[in-house]
Amino acid sequence: MKLLIKNIKGLVGAREEAPSILKGADMKDLPIVEDAWLAVEDGVIADFGKMEDWPGISDWRDLEVIEADGQFILPGFVDSHTHIVYAANREGEFVDRIKGLTYAEIAEKGGGILNSARKLAEASEDDLFEAAFARAEGLIRMGTTALEVKSGYGLSMEAELKMLRVIRRLEEALPIPVRSTFLGMHAIPMEYKSNPEAYIDLVINEMLPAVAEEKLADYVDAFLEDGYFSAEQTVRLIEAADKFGLDAKIHVNQFTATGGVRACAEAGALTLDHLEELTDDDVQAMLQYDTIPVALPSCSFFLSIPYTPARQIIDAGLPLVLATDYNPGSTPNGNMSLVVAMACIKMNMLPEEAINAATLNAAAALQLSEVTGSITPGMRADFILTKPMSSINYLPYSFGEQLVDEVFVAGKRW
Ligand code: NIG
Ligand code: FE
Repeated sequence: MKLLIKNIKGLVGAREEAPSILKGADMKDLPIVEDAWLAVEDGVIADFGKMEDWPGISDWRDLEVIEADGQFILPGFVDSHTHIVYAANREGEFVDRIKGLTYAEIAEKGGGILNSARKLAEASEDDLFEAAFARAEGLIRMGTTALEVKSGYGLSMEAELKMLRVIRRLEEALPIPVRSTFLGMHAIPMEYKSNPEAYIDLVINEMLPAVAEEKLADYVDAFLEDGYFSAEQTVRLIEAADKFGLDAKIHVNQFTATGGVRACAEAGALTLDHLEELTDDDVQAMLQYDTIPVALPSCSFFLSIPYTPARQIIDAGLPLVLATDYNPGSTPNGNMSLVVAMACIKMNMLPEEAINAATLNAAAALQLSEVTGSITPGMRADFILTKPMSSINYLPYSFGEQLVDEVFVAGKRW
């Protein structure tokens, strides 16, 4: 099966060879071929160029031709941080926050993550799968063509394994790459409140080996935050996971900066996610240990907390990744175009930087750099065909408008 798209107004992120990640000033490097053609064969990017150099068609067999007048093509979004397996929405807490309660106060009353865990314990694996599959389909429709999904609403051996099996079923059923993350250390269950160390021992000594044995996860994660898990406890998890060959992606500095970034970077975490609070030493630690920072602006928007200081991160020479954090508590939304717009509007990122952060750099956050995230010959043909637009800057400028016209997953129209 072959596909040829002609007269593309701008072919965005088109690179003969793709770097594995873009850092600092290089994050502005977003090559755009104007008035372009793109050829796809067997699900893979075959070639691209300018219309004036188009070689013409020698073999019409099995060839679909699309005219893209006024439309742009960009790499599909890679969403490297989601919690889309959950049993129920939490709009009651949303209203509580409008009335003045904070995220922490809601959690103290047994809401928040523990609320989701109670609901998930009662849900069947099939029901969880169907709901998560429908959410994932919605994400692909909005242009996401690679996805990470976390456990973390189980908080018991049985329920964490149930969540991870649902994620594995998503991986099998969806046409896009799906990565799975074990987030047993997401919150301390009520029954362990007086003895949190016993829960951490359960996660590290019993759940983690079971997860590794069944090959249910690619990564581990923890919520490193006051009232949740300490830096020392998180480092224990990272070191234990390393023995099973699992890298770490850690929730850190969402509400407080207490040295967790340096501890996790030093322990070898692949990515550090959230970072709404950030110190100079955190930046230095990520530079020193080559750790990838991940920002989640729609979480900041929804919770009315600070935005991750993107300029401080990029201007220091670090890479930056953008993801949604789609979950029922802090970010009930998985729209990557909106994340790109918020990064430009609220975090002062240039459109070029934001698109790279949501595609090429985001692929690096899932170790998929050689597979997707760039319009590069040999890579999966995962891309977005936009509605007609005046320039690529229109995408974040016209925030909230659905500008994704069609999505192609491994060369197939979704
Ligand atoms: O990334 N901060 C921790 N975890 C999620 C929120 C979880 C929830 O509230 O259900 C987050 O924001
Ligand atoms: Fe999260």
